[in-house]
Amino acid sequence: MTDTTTPDTVFYLDCDTGIDDSLAIAYLLGTARDRLVGIGATSGNVSAAAGAENTLRLLGLAGATGIPVALGEHHPRRGEFDGGAPHVHGADGVGGVALPVTDARLVAEDAVELLADLVERHGERLHIIAIAPLTTVARALDVVPDLASRVDGITLMGGAVTVPGNITPFAEANIANDADGAAHVLAADWHTITVVPLDVTMQHRFEPRHTARLARDGGPLAQAVSAMFEAYFDFYEPGLGVRAAPLHDPLAAAIAVGDVAVVDALHDELHVDVTDSPERGRTFRAASPATVPPSDGGRRTTVTTVLGVGDDAADRILRGAASDPR
Ligand code: RIB
Ligand code: CA
Repeated sequence: MTDTTTPDTVFYLDCDTGIDDSLAIAYLLGTARDRLVGIGATSGNVSAAAGAENTLRLLGLAGATGIPVALGEHHPRRGEFDGGAPHVHGADGVGGVALPVTDARLVAEDAVELLADLVERHGERLHIIAIAPLTTVARALDVVPDLASRVDGITLMGGAVTVPGNITPFAEANIANDADGAAHVLAADWHTITVVPLDVTMQHRFEPRHTARLARDGGPLAQAVSAMFEAYFDFYEPGLGVRAAPLHDPLAAAIAVGDVAVVDALHDELHVDVTDSPERGRTFRAASPATVPPSDGGRRTTVTTVLGVGDDAADRILRGAASDPR
């Protein structure tokens, strides 16, 4: 069984605010608003700067601008930011939906400094939810070497273990966009590390009936997220053969909060291919010397890789995202 968080747990969210990140933020505000103690934006779907601005505007719609938002890493651990995924999330990351400008501003510290401060302040009550490339979390592990053992744990959306990737046949986007960062994070000695891969996120989807309910029952943030999903549906419909979109990031958030039950999981090592080969970014269970990253140091961490969750996941995410009080 997956180690679940408790009502005392507080959360740091690392995101690359695109469309499913936006639903994850709406969900967290609806279910754990007072426990969301910081947000960092890392380049992925959009640049870190664009993701940070999207996040500020979403919080503004929900009247939640008291939550600190910090700028995370722009370039991956190796290489350069590739410009994001405008074909999936739109050039602005939010499906072309005009989000009202907010007077909220980023905090002066960067996301690594914010996360380090939160570790000092909250220690083992702090749980990290990572729904973006793991560049910022990896750098935080460099800056605070015992970070992984001091916090409650990490839940991350990423990887593809028994299914193909979505960036290459082997690699999922959050891992592919920074394979070295992912390898560094997966090798750290977390109390608990839960990976939520495409294997499970592709099984749970929103359809127009969900986003219609979201717009009807929710406040301004829920209505904006509902509108964004039209672009997400447009991207996924040809491949899925139905107008729907997978709940990648919201599912990771709902598992971290303990709202969605894990019903099937692997509990063993998980590694990332960091070679400069076509399989770069592949996530797999049994390491071989050629693919164990140097930063790994051969350490073996037991990872919970989620393969199945309760059938009511989409409804629970809908209920949470629609329940933000504004
Ligand atoms: O592969 C899906 C992941 O990549 C999600 O986090 C999505 O927002 C993108 O970041
Ligand atoms: Ca994301």
